[in-house]
Amino acid sequence: MPIPKEARHTPAADDPSLPDVRSALGLDDTYLGWLEDLAAAFPVAPLRLPAPREAAARLRLLGVDPPDVEEAVGSLPRPASDPALLWLLERSVDRMRRRMGDVEADLSWPRLPVSMGAPGRFFLVHVFLAVLDDVESWHAAHGVDAATSRETLSALALDMRLRRQIHGEGGLFEHAWMTLPFRACLYALGRLQYTPLRLSEARVAQWVDPAEVPRVAPRILPDEPAVGIHIPESGPMPPAAVDASLARARAFFGRPQPWGPCRVAVCGSWLLDDQLAGCLPPTSNIVQFQRRFTLFARTHDADRSVLNFVFHRREAPASLDELPQRTTLERALVAHLKAGGHWRSRTGWLAL
Ligand SMILES: CC(C)(COP(=O)(O)OP(=O)(O)OC[C@H]1O[C@@H](n2cnc3c(N)ncnc32)[C@H](O)[C@@H]1OP(=O)(O)O)[C@@H](O)C(=O)NCCC(=O)NCCS
Repeated sequence: MPIPKEARHTPAADDPSLPDVRSALGLDDTYLGWLEDLAAAFPVAPLRLPAPREAAARLRLLGVDPPDVEEAVGSLPRPASDPALLWLLERSVDRMRRRMGDVEADLSWPRLPVSMGAPGRFFLVHVFLAVLDDVESWHAAHGVDAATSRETLSALALDMRLRRQIHGEGGLFEHAWMTLPFRACLYALGRLQYTPLRLSEARVAQWVDPAEVPRVAPRILPDEPAVGIHIPESGPMPPAAVDASLARARAFFGRPQPWGPCRVAVCGSWLLDDQLAGCLPPTSNIVQFQRRFTLFARTHDADRSVLNFVFHRREAPASLDELPQRTTLERALVAHLKAGGHWRSRTGWLAL
């Protein structure tokens, strides 16, 4: 939703300068591009951050667990004493609002330094609290029903739960990814999540060679609206749950507005690596999921994705023997790597 000119404000004399912000928050040179981008966006709209009690109520409505609610609210910046953090928050919120529903905007959201503690770990949650009204209004204005809106934004609760379970501390798990539902660019429909896209977009072309589309997917026109499928880590994905989610996606994205009508869906993931079908039983949910897709030829190395999504490691372990071997998948993944093999991300498509 565009912000009316009169609601914007220009920098006040006592606004901190960019070097002040950097030194107050301990942001090194790696943050410079992002900060300059934020600093360039003037005028910004005034920040509407809910008061602590309201913030807690809104997070609870999204199903966020009590310890996460408590820490998120406890780390909200205080206007009088956190000018640098408010500077960052105000501009980040403005940036989210300006690109609401803009599925092609590729915005970066670096993780803030560990030294910032809870205000850094919960920074994006504070941004989301400030844009909650905007994203709900965008949904309502574009025919996203209230239940789907709530389900979509409740993806935050699962994400924060995973961070606490896996890393033993509060904050976001899939950091930048979580900005997408709060920018009206990702929808949770049952077991799967979806992002509107076009195969001709540069970010998709990394995964799918446009020249290959007419042969592999003769029904797809490169510039037609499509939808990306994503699999959140929310437990097993039995075929019936996938069927139910795809049926909802067919109805949701089959509407002409605001993105569709979409006739096809694509998925790019380590889960579509056809090598997995050789090591998991044919009854496995992953193998049954794979059978739904027709694969494009382009592949990407996915050893890191496997480490990240299955073993929750951001860095490669010193030895593969450190990785747990409790399940068929864990054993198959490690055995393949030990034998000198590699895992690959593949992209496939299906008719919605
Ligand atoms: C995709 C996912 C839901 C599939 O789980 P599932 O429905 O249990 O899959 P399957 O039925 O094929 O599982 C086959 C075997 O692999 C195991 N397995 C599946 N996913 C696993 C995971 N993430 N970690 C450890 N083991 C896993 C299962 O427990 C089962 O082994 P078992 O018979 O010894 O118990 C799950 O892997 C997951 O949540 N992944 C993280 C999210 C992700 O990677 N998204 C894609 C990002 S690109």
